[in-house]
Amino acid sequence: MATRLDGKALSEKLKKRCALESAALREAGTEPCLAVVLVGSDPASAVYVKNKKKDCEESGIRGESYEMPDTAEPKELFALIDKLNGRGDVHGILVQFPLPAQFDARAVLMAIDPKKDVDCFHPENVGLMTQGAPRFLPCTPAGVMALLDEYGIDPLGKECVVVGRSDIVGKPMAMLLLRRHATVTVAHSRTPDLARVCRRADILVSAAGKLGLITRDMVKQGAVVVDVAMNRTADGKLKGDALFDDIEPLCSYITPVPGGVGPMTRAILMQNTLTAAHGGKL
Ligand code: GUN
Repeated sequence: MATRLDGKALSEKLKKRCALESAALREAGTEPCLAVVLVGSDPASAVYVKNKKKDCEESGIRGESYEMPDTAEPKELFALIDKLNGRGDVHGILVQFPLPAQFDARAVLMAIDPKKDVDCFHPENVGLMTQGAPRFLPCTPAGVMALLDEYGIDPLGKECVVVGRSDIVGKPMAMLLLRRHATVTVAHSRTPDLARVCRRADILVSAAGKLGLITRDMVKQGAVVVDVAMNRTADGKLKGDALFDDIEPLCSYITPVPGGVGPMTRAILMQNTLTAAHGGKL
């Protein structure tokens, strides 16, 4: 039986630590604040934003939320971002993605002051992280690393395969594993014989967003499987990329979905907000 990597439990612990740090910041005259912006009516995004509000409460962070309709014009969002950039009492700004079609996501993430970019999406922050001098940590990949560390799983010298090459997860995940001396392969939808590549992995991280992609024949005996994906089934259940029941007997450790990486992403967001409130020092 594989050990479950319990992201829910670890995230609670991290948020308690954040609450202590927030209290100290308040004592010193700074009330940490995260502004969360939701544009449109994507139901999954609405759930994520609601969860982030709760995380803020548990972490002693003031959460400000802003909502705009599906029909909002880009200039309205840019005006809001400008206002939030200029406010000294707002430390982090998060614009929930995906945005409605009239928005250029890249222009939006470039508009956020890099010192308030708690998602770590701005090229300045991606560059700093890539060069090993991070201002903020990319939330999901850093959540995965924290989870591995909590269970004493050291990537040093391990074969790690990351499935997915998104800017949010796949690419920064590879960077963080590389910083910890893993041998990293990034596989994706055009990788021939994905099963063969995945079977190499001591640590397999799947962030493809494809229900049922990771099957038994792709997992080496004793591997650690980290499932980053959050796919909705037809009946509304949340599932990862991996066929959990099929692969679990092969794994040494495995993340559940939900309750694995998801809550960790949000805990790192809280940590990044506190980093921003401290003035950008990790
Ligand atoms: N949409 C899905 N994941 C994320 C995330 O980590 N940050 C933002 N801003 N939007 C998302």
